[in-house]
Parts: sequence; structure tokens; C-alpha cells
Amino acid sequence: MCGIVGAVARENIVPALVEGLRRLEYRGYDSCGVAVNSARGLERMRSIERVSHLDSRLRRARLESASGIAHTRWATHGAPAIRNAHPMLSGDALAVVHNGIIENYEALRDELSNAGYAFVSQTDTEVIAHLIHSLYDGDLFAAVREAVQRLRGAYAIAVVHEDTPHIIVGAREGSPLLIGAAEDGNFIASDALALTGRADRFLFLDDGDVCELTRDTIRVVTRNGEPVEREPQRISVENSAVELGSYRHYMQKEIFEQPEVVAATLRGVEALTPELFGDAAPATFDGIDSVQILACGTSYYAGLVAKYWLETIAKIKTDVEIASEYRYREPVTSRRALVVTISQSGETADTLAALKYAQSLGQTRTLTVCNVPSSAMVQLCGTRYLTRAGQEVGVASTKAFTAQLVALFMLAVTLGRERGHVTALRESQYLQQLHGLPQMLTSMLELEPQIVAWATRLAEKENALFLGRGLQYPVALEGALKLKEISYIHAEAYPAGELKHGPLALVTEAMPVIAIVPDDAMQEKMKSNIQEVRARGGQVYVLADKDAQIASEEGIHVIRMPAHYGPLSPVLYTVPLQLLAYHTACTRGADVDKPRNLAKSVTVE
Ligand code: G6P
Repeated sequence: MCGIVGAVARENIVPALVEGLRRLEYRGYDSCGVAVNSARGLERMRSIERVSHLDSRLRRARLESASGIAHTRWATHGAPAIRNAHPMLSGDALAVVHNGIIENYEALRDELSNAGYAFVSQTDTEVIAHLIHSLYDGDLFAAVREAVQRLRGAYAIAVVHEDTPHIIVGAREGSPLLIGAAEDGNFIASDALALTGRADRFLFLDDGDVCELTRDTIRVVTRNGEPVEREPQRISVENSAVELGSYRHYMQKEIFEQPEVVAATLRGVEALTPELFGDAAPATFDGIDSVQILACGTSYYAGLVAKYWLETIAKIKTDVEIASEYRYREPVTSRRALVVTISQSGETADTLAALKYAQSLGQTRTLTVCNVPSSAMVQLCGTRYLTRAGQEVGVASTKAFTAQLVALFMLAVTLGRERGHVTALRESQYLQQLHGLPQMLTSMLELEPQIVAWATRLAEKENALFLGRGLQYPVALEGALKLKEISYIHAEAYPAGELKHGPLALVTEAMPVIAIVPDDAMQEKMKSNIQEVRARGGQVYVLADKDAQIASEEGIHVIRMPAHYGPLSPVLYTVPLQLLAYHTACTRGADVDKPRNLAKSVTVE
């Protein structure tokens, strides 16, 4: 989704802006641009192509400057077009970049149009530019402070003015924004990663904060105008994730990193106790009567798997809800419920809002399972489990999902122990299984050549159906999501028992059906469902356990898993489905890491 980077320094900052944009590319975008204060005044350049295209144009124009702002845009208001790309100008003297959505932009646009401002874009951002311009009387900081008081919605902005080329002003409300400090200048960005190698100390802005940067100074005030006295913190921003190495795509690299990610998550884990989830966890977990999971996208599916584990292993009632639904209804809540948010980024607007909503309803026992330590969600939750997936670049989440599953399984066993439903012996068996996962995941990756053969056939289709039961149903949902988001094949997942209640009507030779058949109590039921598909001419692609009583025959194609892995089998079955989506998308020539219309971090609702 949209990304901001800005810099003010002694040197030419244009390369730093471009490098920052490159590091933000993974979030998904459809246009990009920069505005700098050069010797010629305020200059802007925008592109609806990749950052590399913008970079070559900037080089050709020999644009140099000691201060400026840059942006990658993911269209919300107005199509992806040059006229809608940021930075937005007002009076050819002021430039703004913006992440988020301004909800009252229509009223403001009418007001500013009446005051004589001409709008050239369809964006809500242009309203911010003109609003600040209309309030500007030589003090950019004061104008921005006054302007943001009139904005409703979510925003992170960075602003420059030609009159004060040594100043960048920023503000945030509901969208991430941080300041990076370095010896030779100061930076502003929506994601610390944009400043890798440039800044070594970071100051995270809070909602309502407005800041002013010069190359030597940082000034931050709160919504009420009180100065903020927080020292920038030293945090190390990972670099290695940005390197693709020998892989064709980040998604492929991240799928193959899963054994290592799970090993890192489990390193040093010798017992499943609340302390794994932080110092505050023993008190938070004590006496809970239920679990409420809130998440979006792939993280929501991790939550659905967790529900099975929490109810089966810890015997605790668990509800899982899509965050964008929960935040707008009146749920019946328990103050003794543990509210668990699951989020790779920790910035997903709906999950953050649902968490705040739960807190406003008196639900104070909160845990987040998150992959980004500096994220808003981690800061907002009383307890947190930080997955060690490393930075995930591919828009389609893979390794972060696996890491979430491992964390959630550990939560289920921990709560099971606390509540007296898991014996010490059982705990050690679970631990043994957990520690065996990296090796099992490696064997799963060895199935790749067989998956490629399936992908070649699947790539010719326009629809696919995924079936699973019990623990494997959420895995089927995740498999269908992966396939649709990167290959653009329409895919649906159903609990196999529902087949006869509708989706069977769709089954013809043109509808491949992917079925997950572990060697468990549901095996016979799944086999019957497969026969129902075959009887209608459907081609069935079966992922089955090594010992499952099902074999390849006319219309039934079986890939066998290395071994049955009990309650942790969802972690394993996920891998071939990721590979299937990946290779199908590659065969169709899709841009795997940047699927159309999608963003990595969804910071608007
Ligand atoms: C976007 C991403 C998905 C992700 C979802 C939730 O849609 O493309 O991969 O699952 O957001 O993101 P989160 O960071 O909260 O896990």
C-alpha cells in the first residue's frame, strides 16, 4: 500500500529517496513520485511505472537537492494515473505526500473550490495540499498543525514548501509514520525499512503528532501542542530480506525460508509457559474464560486453524472474526476473554481498529501475534508474541502464516497446560513434534517437482475448488486465497461436507478440485466426497498422507506427504498449496510478488 519517504540532509538526498521508494515497493503500488526543493525551486517528477523508471528519469534530469519527499501510491480515490500520483502540489510552491483516506474531503474540496482553488486530480490528497496552502503565512509547521485539525479519517503526511527548503513537516493520525535520525540528516518514512542503511535511530510518532525536521533538529508536538520529549530509539532494520538471491521471486524465496523461520521461532523453546508471550502474560492469561481472535486475510485463516487447536487442546471457547466485521457490530463480549490479534504487519487498519474497539468495550486482556516489533499493534497490546519470520516482501503471505501457526499452536498448548488439560508428558510430545517441523517442512519442499506438474494443468483453468475438513478446512481456504490472489484463477474453498449443498453444481471437467486428505478420522468422509466429484466428471488433485488409503486412478491425482503429522499437519499441508499457487501463477506469466490491485500492508479500511 502507499509509502512515504522524506529526507533533509547536507548532501543530495535524491538517491536516498529513490532507495527508500525501492524498499517500499514490496507494499504494492501503482504510481510513484518525488518533490524536491532544488536550486531551481520546487520540482516534482511522477511515474505510473516502476520506481526504476522514475529513477532513470531523475538521473537524466540530474535532479539534486538537500531536501524532499517521495511516495508510492496505491490508488484509493482516483485511478492510477499521473494526475493522481503524489506528491500533490498547491500553488506550485507546496508539495504533499499522503497515506490513508480523508473522509471529509468532499466538503473540504467544495470549500476550497469556492475559495478559488482549482483541483486537477481526483484524490483526497490534493485537498490536504490546498488546505495547508490556504492556511500558510510563512510558517509551514503552524499551517500543517491547523490543517490537520480539519481532517477526518486516517492519514500520514509529509509536506515541503519552496520558501523553507530546509524543512519537512509531517503529521499522522491512524497511519504509520516515523522519523529516522542520522549524523548527516533526518528522515521521515511510513516504514522503518525505507530508511535501511540511512538512519540508525527512530522516533515513532503517535496519533495526533505533528513534526518538523531540519537536517540537525527534530521537533514533535502532540495534538494539544505539547512538545514531545521522546528520544529516538536505536533499532536495527533488517537488510537481508530485501535481497532476492538465487530465487526468481520473493514469494518463492519466502516459501523456501519456512524451515528456517520455524526453526528460528522454536529456538530456545524448551517449555510451553505463559512467559513465552512476555512478562505480562501470566497475569493476562490467568482466569480467562474464552478467546476472541481478530484478523484479516491470511492471518484470519491462521486464526481459524487456531480455533481448532484452542478448543481441542486447551478446551477454551474460541471465536474468530474478520476484523472489519467485528469493528462495526455490537458483539457480546466477556471482560475475561483473551483478545488475540494476528497480523504480519501489525499495521492493518481494520485489525488495529477492531483491537481498539475491543479495548473500548472493556476487553483489556490482549495479545498480538505479530511479525513487526515496531508496529502499532505491538505497541497497543498488553502482551505480544513476535514471530521471527523476518521481513516478508511477497504480497501473498507465506512464511509469516507458518510462523503464526507455530505461535498459535504454542499458545493453545500453553493455555492447555495452564487450564489443566495438557499433562507434562503431552506437552513434551507436542514440543517434540514442534521441533520436528523444520525437517518436515524441508521434505514438503521436495514435493515441488510433482506440484509443478499439477500447476501446468491448473494454469489452463479459470476456476478451482478446494476441499478440506476440520483442521484442514482453513488450510483449504488459505490455498484458495493464495491461488486467486496471484494467479487470478477464481478459487473457492469449502468444508467438504458442504459440497452437496451448492458447489457440487459447479463441478464439471473444467473444474479442478483440490482435496486435502490426511490420514485422520475424516479420511473416509473425504474419500466419499472425492467420489462425488468423480461421478460428475471432475478432476481431483489429492494431497494425502503417506498411509492414507487413496491411490491415483483415472481422474484422481495423488501427491503423498512424507508422514502424518497429527494436529500440526496444517503447517505442512500449507506448503504444497503455496507452491501450487506460485507455480500456477508463474505458468500464467503473472507478476507473483505484486499481484494486481493488492497491497502488502493494508493501512486503509
Ligand atoms: C493484505 C496482504 C495479506 C495479509 C492481509 C492481512 O491483504 O496482502 O497477505 O494476509 O493484508 O495483513 P496482516 O499484516 O494484518 O497480517
